[in-house]
Amino acid sequence: MRSLIDILDFTVEELEQLIAVACDIIENPDKYSEKCKGKKLATLFFEPSTRTRLSFEAAMYELGGNVIGFSEAKSSSAAKGESVADTAKVISCYADIIAMRHPKEGAAYVAAKNATVPVINAGDGGHCHPTQTLADLLTIYREKGRFSNITVGLCGDLKFGRTVHSLINALSRYSGVKFILISPEELKIPSYVKKDILEKGNVPFVETTDLESAMPELDILYMTRVQRERFFNEEDYLRLKDSYILTPDKLLNAKKDLAILHPLPRVNEISVAIDSDPRACYFKQVLNGKYMRMALILKLLEEAKR
Ligand code: NCD
Repeated sequence: MRSLIDILDFTVEELEQLIAVACDIIENPDKYSEKCKGKKLATLFFEPSTRTRLSFEAAMYELGGNVIGFSEAKSSSAAKGESVADTAKVISCYADIIAMRHPKEGAAYVAAKNATVPVINAGDGGHCHPTQTLADLLTIYREKGRFSNITVGLCGDLKFGRTVHSLINALSRYSGVKFILISPEELKIPSYVKKDILEKGNVPFVETTDLESAMPELDILYMTRVQRERFFNEEDYLRLKDSYILTPDKLLNAKKDLAILHPLPRVNEISVAIDSDPRACYFKQVLNGKYMRMALILKLLEEAKR
C-alpha cells in the first residue's frame, strides 16, 4: 500500500506529476469535483493544526469526498492508552485514506505499517512534514518556474522545524541548489540532515547566524517559527523566540524577485508590514497546499485500487 511518510517516498518525477495535476486542478476545478465521490478521508490529529487539517478537509470536499476524524489527542482513544498501530487498524475499517499528525517522530511510519489504507504524514514531531513540502514546491514552481539553480535561505528554528527538514530533502535532488542555513547556534540544522542529506549529496550549504548578510544572494527566503512546543524549557524559548524578525528595512538588499515563504503559523518572524510586498508568498503557499493535497489524495487513492 502506497503512503506518503517522507518526501523521499516519491521520486522527482512523481512530485512533478503532482505539480502538473495541481496546476490542472487550478485551471479546471470542475473536472475534479466528483473524483472522490463516496470516499472518506480520516484526519487523525494528535497535535494542534489549523492549516494542515483544514486544508486536507477542504481538499477532500473539493474532490467530492467526505471527511471524518478528530483534532486533538484527548478526544480520541489515545487518551485511554490506545497505540498508534491499533488506531491505524481501526480507522482502516472506516476510511479510504488517512492523514495523521502526531507529536512523536516515526508515528506516521508505524501507522502506515499497520493500516490497510494509504497513510499521509501530516507532521511527525520534529522529524518531517512532507505535505507542507508539497505546498512549498508548488509555490516555488509557480513563482520561479524551476527548482534548479536557486539559492534558498532557511531561517529560524532549523533544529525542530520539520518543514525545513522535508524541504531540504526535496530540493537537494535538483542541481545548482545552494542552501544558506540561518539560525541561532542552538537551533542549527540536526546533524543527520547535514551529514545524510547535504554532505552525502554534495549539496552546497553555508551555516550562519546573520540573515542580513545572506539576503542579497537569496532567490527564496523560507522563514520559520521557533517551535515552542518542542523546547525542554520555557527560558530557552523566550531567549530565542525573536532571533529573527523580517521587517521591510531588512529587504533593502534583497533581490527584486525574491520569494518569501513561511509554512505558517507566523508568530513574530515576519512583520505584517511585509504582507503587502509582492515578494510575500506565504498566503499563496496556503492555497497551493490545498491543491497539492488534492493531487496527493487522488494519486494515493488511484494507487490503492491497483
Ligand atoms: C508547520 C508545522 O506544523 O510543522 N505548520 C504547518 O503545518 N503549516 C510549521 C509550524 O508549526 O511552525
